[in-house]
Amino acid sequence: MGKIVRSTNSGKGIEMLSFLIFNVVVLFTQAHDVSTKSETVLTNLDQARAVGGVILSQDVVTNLAVAYLTQLQLNQLSILNHSQGKCAGFERLTATEANQPGVILSNLATADLKIKTLSLAKKTILTWNEDFQKMADLANPNQLQETVAWISSYPSRYNKAPNPNQHVDDLKNRLQQWLQGAKWNFQIETIDHHSTKQKTLRVTIPGKSRPQEVIVMGGHFDSINQGYFSGDLSPGADDNASGSANLIEALKILKNSEQPERTWEFYWYAGEESGLLGSAEISKLAKEQSKNVIAVLQLDMTLFPGSGEHVVGLITDYTSPWLRDILTSINSTYVKARLVDDKCGYGCSDHASWHRQGYHAVTPFEATTSTMNHYIHTEKDVIDTRLSFLHSNSFTKYTVLFALVLGNSDMQPPVF
Ligand code: BES
Ligand code: ZN
Repeated sequence: MGKIVRSTNSGKGIEMLSFLIFNVVVLFTQAHDVSTKSETVLTNLDQARAVGGVILSQDVVTNLAVAYLTQLQLNQLSILNHSQGKCAGFERLTATEANQPGVILSNLATADLKIKTLSLAKKTILTWNEDFQKMADLANPNQLQETVAWISSYPSRYNKAPNPNQHVDDLKNRLQQWLQGAKWNFQIETIDHHSTKQKTLRVTIPGKSRPQEVIVMGGHFDSINQGYFSGDLSPGADDNASGSANLIEALKILKNSEQPERTWEFYWYAGEESGLLGSAEISKLAKEQSKNVIAVLQLDMTLFPGSGEHVVGLITDYTSPWLRDILTSINSTYVKARLVDDKCGYGCSDHASWHRQGYHAVTPFEATTSTMNHYIHTEKDVIDTRLSFLHSNSFTKYTVLFALVLGNSDMQPPVF
């Protein structure tokens, strides 16, 4: 929002000078029998200064001012603007507006912000689709909570734990059940890795008309305890039972949608906490096989509303501007959370693996990195009142919409 600057000490000199000029001009105009009637107008700040008007209030961001100008000054302003091919360059204010010069500027600053937001939104390539909206709105915070409770009930999902695949095998079995009766065929498989004993789980829904074009949605299914004296419990409710559960819930909703034109691949990655292990191998193989992965959505931590409910961080490093723009459009068209750009400063999750291989990835995040959940990687990362399933529910919606929008369009990443 624009910064409203009223009579500050630094502005006093300018105001005094303006006042002096104002009086000189008044005397001058009176001497030359020009109308002495001064008026309060809304105008460009620089121009109001240039003609020596009395600045009643100014907004340095919109560069607008409410100024008290003589008829002569108004004429000068008009000449100045016409010479630049513009209109008079000021707007007369009503008595009420003139009495509250700060209010109008503050309102205008808000309007200015809206225009900027709208012109950004102009980049939107999406037209609202009622069926997509209905699908997204099936996302249910209570079901999400049940799924997070189940995933975080394992003592640990650490990739170096004695039995690092219990939760992976269990999810495989559950998904087999949950996806019964889906409108499309699917394949569920575990993927072995060289770098860890833990496996990645993948669900593939082949595309109808362009199966070679792939939309990836994923999150890490492992957890870690980095505490020194706290034992080995690593429930990882937020990091990352939350993102894993959003993916599960999204799939359960998408089960009632038509087969997509492009292929959907859902991943629950192994060993992220030990250095992005699963996603590094999977994305490297994809590149080696020249797999046509169009877009990658990464979900990692979606439950802690550290910047406020429905305020969502958008990670801008190791991600794709093209996909951030699409996610921003998905958000403004359907989900309507507030997106805030933020950086991790390093490859903080599996999106970085895909990015490194030249694929387009995007990561919406629970908050900004400075306000994120700091209980992660400890036994305290459990479901508690600080977490919000309503907040996290938006991330199920992002997943459903990412699948529907990108899976059924011919949008392609820009070629550099
Ligand atoms: N979920 C965390 C961190 C995170 C922060 C992800 C912000 C997404 C946005 C993640 O699981 C993690 O702990 N990553 C490691 C890095 C990895 C290469 C071992 C970290 O941040 O230390
Ligand atoms: Zn994580």
